[in-house]
Amino acid sequence: MDLQLSGKRVLVTGSTSGIGEGIVKILAHEGANVIVHGRNKQQADRIAEEINKKRSSISSNDNGGKAYVAIGDLSKDEGAKEVVRESLKSVGDIDILINNAAVYVNRGWTDATPNQWAELYNFNVLIAVRMIQLVIPRMKNLGWGRIIQMSTGEATQPFAFMPDYAATKAALVNITVSLSKELAQTGITVNTISPGIIVTHNVIQFYRQTAIDKGWGTDWKEIEKHILTEVLNNPVGRLGTIEDVANLVAFVSSPLASYINGANLRVDGGSTITIN
Ligand SMILES: NC(=O)c1ccc[n+]([C@@H]2O[C@H](COP(=O)([O-])OP(=O)(O)OC[C@H]3O[C@@H](n4cnc5c(N)ncnc54)[C@H](OP(=O)(O)O)[C@@H]3O)[C@@H](O)[C@H]2O)c1
Repeated sequence: MDLQLSGKRVLVTGSTSGIGEGIVKILAHEGANVIVHGRNKQQADRIAEEINKKRSSISSNDNGGKAYVAIGDLSKDEGAKEVVRESLKSVGDIDILINNAAVYVNRGWTDATPNQWAELYNFNVLIAVRMIQLVIPRMKNLGWGRIIQMSTGEATQPFAFMPDYAATKAALVNITVSLSKELAQTGITVNTISPGIIVTHNVIQFYRQTAIDKGWGTDWKEIEKHILTEVLNNPVGRLGTIEDVANLVAFVSSPLASYINGANLRVDGGSTITIN
């Protein structure tokens, strides 16, 4: 299937590691020109170089896209503006915005202060709002666009722990629906993608620490079994991969997905216990 992404210009926030890195790589493989974004320039340069090197080594009938870098802290208005400025300088316009950047902190109801809740809201919600407000006027002029919010299964099925994180992610699901209405008949669709537990470097670190606290040992295969029985099970019976999420992002970004709008799409092996 040709996803018709060749030449599309994509900004993926938080693509210096984990799921975001996987998304820029898959979209570039599909021919999109991608902006690798984060605060860590060294990491962003490494990923962009990897993509561009692969591009120059593939045959001329493969349509690999180019990668560029934009650095900025999206928890601040000026940082967000700088990222958009840099992106426009590199690729001219943004057709597809993937709001993927976020932080998650392992804490519960009794060890996060109201100020920390507010701070996390700024990180995980306003980080997306800033980018949306900066990008939509130009996207409207293009008459076509895709905006995707990266949420989590916890948005609709929270755990007892990390309530502040789950609440920020629930806000994103809500924002998606509102924005899809605001952008009615502009050619822009707005969707949320909600992954289950995805094995990224940071998630491995996170659960290795949990394993120490709970005495699950140090063998990752064993830790995975504990996660699947004691944290979040799913009928597929494994944790998710970065590619599981990135493949869905690629499809929803595609012109082929023009009738998917305002949706919250789960990619969690079926772990969310609800029929819709
Ligand atoms: N992994 C999972 O199991 C899982 C499950 C469900 C949902 N998700 C969601 O998927 C997304 C990616 O998760 P991940 O596990 O791949 O995360 P990750 O590896 O920790 O990556 C987070 C990215 O966000 C960037 N970032 C964080 N704060 C930023 C800020 N203030 N300004 C600019 N960039 C910032 C980081 O860039 P720098 O380090 O360069 O600053 C990094 O590139 C997140 O929205 C997360 O909530 C993840």
